[in-house]
Amino acid sequence: MALLDIIRHRRSVRDFIDKPVERDKIMLCLEAARLAPSACNSQPWKFIVVDDLQLKDELCRAAFGGIYSMMSFAKKAPLIVAVVSEKAKFLERIGGLLRDTKFYLIDIGIAAEHFVLQAEELGLSTCWIGWFDEGAVKSILKIPRDRRLDVLIAVGYCDESKRGQLHKRDSLKEVTAFNSYDGTGA
Ligand SMILES: Cc1cc2nc3c(=O)[nH]c(=O)nc-3n(C[C@H](O)[C@H](O)[C@H](O)COP(=O)(O)O)c2cc1C
Repeated sequence: MALLDIIRHRRSVRDFIDKPVERDKIMLCLEAARLAPSACNSQPWKFIVVDDLQLKDELCRAAFGGIYSMMSFAKKAPLIVAVVSEKAKFLERIGGLLRDTKFYLIDIGIAAEHFVLQAEELGLSTCWIGWFDEGAVKSILKIPRDRRLDVLIAVGYCDESKRGQLHKRDSLKEVTAFNSYDGTGA
C-alpha cells in the first residue's frame, strides 16, 4: 500500500480480536520508531513492549482504574507498548528551555506515529492512549522515577465487524495557507 493509503486506512481501534501479535511484526514497528527524527538527534525514547499476558493484565488493571476506567477497552489488546521519554541531550534541553518548547514530546510523538503506521502496514491496529495512571504503570514496569511515561499504544488485530469510520477532519482549506497565515495560494 502507498503511504497515503496506509494513513487513510488507519483508525484508532478499540475492539481487538483474541489473536496474539507476532514478535517479528513488532520488531519491524520498533525499527520504524527507532529511525524517527528527533531534535538534535536526541532520540529521547525507549519502547517497552508488554506482550506477557499476565503482566499485560496486571498493567491494564493498574493503568485503567478509577478515573481512567474509560480506557478499559485496552484490556482486550494482546499487547501494550509503553513509550518512555528518556532524558534528551543537553543541547535539546537548553534549546527547549530557550524556546519554551517541549521538543522531547514532539520527538516521541513522531517515533510513536512511525510505530503506528508501520503496524498499520503490517495489518495490525493500534490506539494511542494518553489517559492512564502513569505512576502505577511506571511502578509495574520498573521505570525510573525521573522518566516520564506520556503515552501507551494498544496493539492488536482489529475486530473488523466493529471498525469505525474515519473521525471527521478539518478540510485542507481550513488547515493550510500559502505564504502567509491567511494566504489562499490563489
Ligand atoms: C497523544 C494522543 C493521546 C490519545 N489518548 C487517547 C486515550 O487516552 N484514549 C483513547 O481512547 N484514544 C486516545 N487517542 C486517540 C484519539 O482519540 C484519536 O486519534 C482521535 O479521536 C482521532 O481518531 P482516529 O485515530 O480514529 O483517526 C489519543 C491520540 C493521541 C494522538
